[in-house]
Amino acid sequence: MKVRKAVFPVAGLGTRFLPATKASPKEMLPVVDKPLIQYGVEEAAEAGLDLMVFVTGRNKRNIPDHFDKAFELEVELERRGKTRLLEMVRNIPPQGVGCAYTRQPEALGLGHAVLCARPLVGDEPFAVLLADDLIANNGGPGCLAQMVDVFERHRGSVLAVQEVPREATASYGIVAVEPVDERLGRITHIVEKPRPEEAPSTLAVVGRYLLTPRIFPLLETTPRGAGGEIQLTDAIAELLKEEPVYAYRFEGKRYDCGSKLGYLEATVDHALQHPEVAEGFRAYLRRLALE
Ligand code: G1P
Repeated sequence: MKVRKAVFPVAGLGTRFLPATKASPKEMLPVVDKPLIQYGVEEAAEAGLDLMVFVTGRNKRNIPDHFDKAFELEVELERRGKTRLLEMVRNIPPQGVGCAYTRQPEALGLGHAVLCARPLVGDEPFAVLLADDLIANNGGPGCLAQMVDVFERHRGSVLAVQEVPREATASYGIVAVEPVDERLGRITHIVEKPRPEEAPSTLAVVGRYLLTPRIFPLLETTPRGAGGEIQLTDAIAELLKEEPVYAYRFEGKRYDCGSKLGYLEATVDHALQHPEVAEGFRAYLRRLALE
């Protein structure tokens, strides 16, 4: 079965980015000129997915607004003959992509957010994207497109992973794997946010998952785990007792835009690639380095 639907859990409080996130979701923070959530939607569309399911919460109204038709803006851009901008605005979301919204009434964790999407996903494989993990692959296929390819070849759930320093394991889901090939492993063990001395490896799950719908009944019975939340990681630990679950070392660079430093790195790298500002920004960085 083809992967068609992408779930975006966007109900988090974004406390690491206060005050910017006091009244606006962290997923709307722009990297240069595009909000994080739009990078995620474009990555999912590029992977061939055509329904974006947003699990929203309070203070998230500008996410549906962003993906809605901006009638007055379009009329005005047309009147002023700003064709390029008009085209850009009309492509949010990309052509052929639909959006659906549901609410997570309480912040009970990532697993709970994914479970809230169940009525909109139904009985088919689907992707989960955490938009504050921004993944760029310099012109090559996006992380999710690579994962869809793995899914089609191996017919099992796939999680994107990357090596992290041992002292950082307590910030991630950590997996142990049996190697399949250079980039792929079959997960034998997964644990949420282990202390460095207890982590089974330093291979960390980042915010891209391709899951079979079997995850839903498992989430229904997942007890609260790390941080008192219903963890997706704990349901995946149950899933891998029943089905193969793969860890895929994606090609590309991941920015943790949930942290200020990661966000700044993403901004600098994207600015250096941006046709409008790259030259001027590079010159500015040079001047800065010489000071
Ligand atoms: C979540 C997941 C964790 C994963 C991480 C990736 O944690 O629970 O397993 O490694 O995203 O960014 P959070 O960052 O929401 O605490």
